[in-house]
Amino acid sequence: MKYKYKKKQNFKIWLIIAVLTLLLTSIKIINKPNNTVKQQTKSINKQKTVALNKPEHTIKPQNKVTIQQKDISVAQFYDPLNWSTHSTQIKEALKTSEAIEIKSMREALKSDNRNADFSGAVYKVKLSNGLEAVFKTTDSGNMAKDRMEEAAYDLSAATGIAFVPPTVHRELTADFNKTGHTQTKTGFLSLFVETQTDLISLSKTRFDELLERSGKERVANFKIFNFVFGNWDVGPHNMLISEYKRGNNIDYFPISIDNEGIANIQKVRYGAIPFVKFFGTNSSNPKTEFPFDEAKLSDTAAKQEVSKELNFYPPGRTHNYIVWSGCYWAQFFDSYWDSPSDITDLLYADYLPPKTKIALKNLSKEQLFKIFDKTEQTASEHLKEIVIGILERRDMLLAKF
Ligand SMILES: Nc1ncnc2c1ncn2[C@@H]1O[C@H](COP(=O)(O)OP(=O)(O)OP(=O)(O)O)[C@@H](O)[C@H]1O
Ligand SMILES: [Mg+2]
Repeated sequence: MKYKYKKKQNFKIWLIIAVLTLLLTSIKIINKPNNTVKQQTKSINKQKTVALNKPEHTIKPQNKVTIQQKDISVAQFYDPLNWSTHSTQIKEALKTSEAIEIKSMREALKSDNRNADFSGAVYKVKLSNGLEAVFKTTDSGNMAKDRMEEAAYDLSAATGIAFVPPTVHRELTADFNKTGHTQTKTGFLSLFVETQTDLISLSKTRFDELLERSGKERVANFKIFNFVFGNWDVGPHNMLISEYKRGNNIDYFPISIDNEGIANIQKVRYGAIPFVKFFGTNSSNPKTEFPFDEAKLSDTAAKQEVSKELNFYPPGRTHNYIVWSGCYWAQFFDSYWDSPSDITDLLYADYLPPKTKIALKNLSKEQLFKIFDKTEQTASEHLKEIVIGILERRDMLLAKF
């Protein structure tokens, strides 16, 4: 009996243990994330990301470069929203790839039935990592010395103001002249931005309509970037409008290309077209203020007079000019369309986005020298003047808003 009772007792204990174990396991099962559900969410998310970031021209994601920023695929490099957040990775990919195909930009634009309006040696390049890029040679001048086109991109990425194609200054080896022999040239390698519209062929009204699709903030930032950083040579020939496909929508971005105006020393009154130093080395300590009101038209007689005085013949394009501090300052007002206001329209915004205001306020001499890869001690006098000019224009703009 005793044994039977003990057995019964034992049985009860085992029963309790079994029930408890069962209960605990079922609690665990309930709390454990359902594998299938998780898997499905992951694949939906994945699909979403791919659909969101897929550009018009599909390049297979490949060649991931591991830098401190979270990696994105090469195809995602074309999304302007990634240019500021992933600048290290994108620049690294541009720096380390080789050219596998090259053609002149003129030829590339022609085969696309587009207009060409530029003077430099510009090439369209296919890179070993699948990217399409633009290479612009910089054989001489300040552009090369101070890496202005790369600095323009760095400025846009660091401040988050405006969109400049990711750019690096580097050497590239390619058969530039299709002679069967490769050459190595130094220049700027920028990400190629696919566009749907040849801006040069548009009327001002149609251009404005397209630009406005980018939204108030992007349009304002584009203009603010041009003015503050001194990108004075604005017009449809020096910009692009990217129509980036995001899911079922098109996301429009005004893109600043050919930012070499930043390398020019300028004098400007807020709201007007800047005067660009075209010839001469001015005194770092001029005795007079810049005489904005003394601007004259560069007609033939004026050009001859200037050539005698400065031993330099002014540029052919009709413009206003001022001779000051031993230098020739030109104000180019001939716009792509009709009026000088077409130029000021791309330099002056009527709205200052709050984030841009903060970025501009935070801009410092040190940060600017760093972006130009120099310090105040190592910078040339020319670069120091450029940096001072940027901060002066920043202050002018902040004073207006
Ligand atoms: N990142 C880019 N993506 C797509 N196309 C580009 C890009 N950069 C330049 N281009 C094309 O190449 C042309 C020439 O470029 P860019 O204006 O930089 O040359 P440039 O010789 O410096 O011009 P300029 O004669 O005004 O000094 C542009 O008008 C544009 O059609
Ligand atoms: Mg140009």
